[in-house]
Amino acid sequence: MNSLSEKLKAKIRDVENFPKPGITFKDITPVLSDSKLCRDITEELLSRYKDENLDAIVGVESRGFLFGMLLAYELNIPFVPVRKSGKLPFRTLKHSYDLEYGSASMEIHVDALQNNWNVLIHDDLLATGGTAAAAGALVEQLGAKVQSFSFLIDLTFLNGKDVLKNYTTKINSLVQY
Ligand code: PRP
Ligand code: MG
Repeated sequence: MNSLSEKLKAKIRDVENFPKPGITFKDITPVLSDSKLCRDITEELLSRYKDENLDAIVGVESRGFLFGMLLAYELNIPFVPVRKSGKLPFRTLKHSYDLEYGSASMEIHVDALQNNWNVLIHDDLLATGGTAAAAGALVEQLGAKVQSFSFLIDLTFLNGKDVLKNYTTKINSLVQY
């Protein structure tokens, strides 16, 4: 039986030159189409985080919503979306950051987290770390604590972990390239 990491690697599809020339995009849609694999991923995340006394899962738009919501559901704790600028309807805090390609701002609702909550930030992919760091900044601005970062994929050659270490050293991924 293959490990979960090997099963994931077998399904993740490389798409060359998307969304820009020179970028190789890690496409997780074949993973999403495999319901058994999605269950295995969710169960692995649950076993990793069930004893961490987390108060909320923050999921990063858009691909961080997928397993972020599943994990929050399994842990029976709130799911909080961090979204790209202009998407959240209520009052927000905003943080600007550099992307692997381009730049962007992320927002969180001002009432989404309570003071001193222990939060896990989930996204599908860690590249430069700019997106996850922006989510971390927003969590801290609301007075909560970043307890863990969780990713499906870590592009380790981009050293994204280095920019997240100020928030927490608990940075985990299921697959590394
Ligand atoms: C991708 C990926 C991460 C982020 C990683 O999202 O899903 O969120 O980039 O890059 P970084 O570590 O260099 O910041 P993208 O902005 O393409 O948006 P999407 O998830 O909405 O497709
Ligand atoms: Mg994303």
